[in-house]
Amino acid sequence: MTTFKWSKSYSVDIPEIDEQHKQIIDFLNQLDRAKKDRTEKETIENIANSLIEYARNHLECEERYMKEYAYPDSEEHLKEHKEFRRKIKAINREVQSNGHNPGGILKASIMLQQWLMWHIQETDRPLGEYLKQQGV
Ligand SMILES: [Fe+2]
Repeated sequence: MTTFKWSKSYSVDIPEIDEQHKQIIDFLNQLDRAKKDRTEKETIENIANSLIEYARNHLECEERYMKEYAYPDSEEHLKEHKEFRRKIKAINREVQSNGHNPGGILKASIMLQQWLMWHIQETDRPLGEYLKQQGV
């Protein structure tokens, strides 16, 4: 996994959502570092658990905004969040089931990372623009 560097191109222009994305990216980068440093399994599991909980709350936050401001493209966005949740579940499964090797957690988190870079730019940015227009 390569380090996921935050740049302006990931900004959705809503500070609250940007902060949440940055935190998720930070957890993913922590996992990446943990792999390189051969960090112990328990620490990797702890980071993964924090990522899972935080990401779930983040999705709920975006979904609250979509509902509150009657976002016209929410159906598509919610479909993508379904995919997001599947990827979080995949990480969770690895945390629950992986015997002695944290490789599965790291593999599942790479899948999330790649997908997230795309989702933020393609799907969250238009949402941010819309919210901005609504005066958020
Ligand atoms: Fe989203």
